[in-house]
Amino acid sequence: MDNRHLNLTLFNGQHIPVIGLGTWQCTADEVKEAVNAALETGYRHIDTAYLYQNEAAIGQVIHEWINSGKLKRQELFITTKLPFTGNKPEKVEHFLKLSLENLKLDYVDLYLIQFPIGFCGEDDRDLFPTDANGKLLLDFDSNTLTLWKAMESQVDAGRAKAIGLSNFNSHQIERIVQTSRIKPANLQVEMHAYFQQKRLRTYCKKHGIIVCAYGPLGSKGRIDFSARCGVPKPQVADVLDDPMVAEIANAHSKTSAQVLLRHLIQLNVVVIPKSVTQSRIRENYDVFDFVLTENEMEKLSQLDKNNRTFIFDEFDGVPDHPEYPFVIPY
Ligand SMILES: NC(=O)c1ccc[n+]([C@@H]2O[C@H](COP(=O)([O-])OP(=O)(O)OC[C@H]3O[C@@H](n4cnc5c(N)ncnc54)[C@H](OP(=O)(O)O)[C@@H]3O)[C@@H](O)[C@H]2O)c1
Repeated sequence: MDNRHLNLTLFNGQHIPVIGLGTWQCTADEVKEAVNAALETGYRHIDTAYLYQNEAAIGQVIHEWINSGKLKRQELFITTKLPFTGNKPEKVEHFLKLSLENLKLDYVDLYLIQFPIGFCGEDDRDLFPTDANGKLLLDFDSNTLTLWKAMESQVDAGRAKAIGLSNFNSHQIERIVQTSRIKPANLQVEMHAYFQQKRLRTYCKKHGIIVCAYGPLGSKGRIDFSARCGVPKPQVADVLDDPMVAEIANAHSKTSAQVLLRHLIQLNVVVIPKSVTQSRIRENYDVFDFVLTENEMEKLSQLDKNNRTFIFDEFDGVPDHPEYPFVIPY
């Protein structure tokens, strides 16, 4: 593996930097500082979503960097995602245009369907629409194949260079792969040392789909989100405190976070660690000066516990929906 700042290549020839900055749960002020720090550090890949409600703040920083001549647009890789309320073919263009307006961009590098299940909302700002009794309005009529055609149209229109999926299982991806004109370039799913998704990675490799790991450090910050949703004690993966990871980190004079990220990168997985802490933003990028040995990679592989922690049970009724993705093994 080339040990400089690395890219992987999507099937369409586009390069995706193996490290991106995650931005979920970042407020506008936090994300501005974080994106500035990340760009100063060398990050060129930012992951956001319409749902995170921070695209406009990210757009402002990107705009400043490009306008001042410090960066060219083509040096950046920007990913954003269709919200759950956008899972209807007729809404895709609308939501992507809103995201582009927020981001102050003419195109995104990657546009993802964030989740296979849609919510029935009419108000662009109401991301979790409920009925009069407060019950989440799930969409039972959505069809991911027609939705995908609307995603393909966004590539045709030049608004997205590549399109992909997030939180889809292998059967759902397969249906799209079999019928698509433009295949999914990327799959973004939960992945970390305790949930390594080996079979899903193998499936994606077979189809030339690059995998991106969300929650690569165990997503401890999810505790706050779940508490806000009334789920007091979500399970999070304690990968950062794992003694084996610490031992390997010591051997390289690196931190556990760096070893966890390096492990995924050496599996050819893109990682998008989120941080709003400047020192951690730098730390998470400082993983290009060491290589894990085969023996260390094997030890890290042994840590897999098939420990999925993002089960989306914060959203009432989602786990019972016929398109709930996490009922099959991979
Ligand atoms: N597609 C989806 O459905 C989906 C779902 C979840 C996430 N994502 C994307 O994936 C990104 C990453 O996932 P995530 O945010 O859930 O979890 P994560 O990146 O695994 O973990 C982030 C947490 O780890 C802390 N942290 C970061 N670097 C650290 C370090 N070097 N040492 C110790 N702690 C560190 C952060 O704290 P501080 O910020 O306080 O430093 C934050 O609490 C998201 O931000 C988002 O862009 C996508």
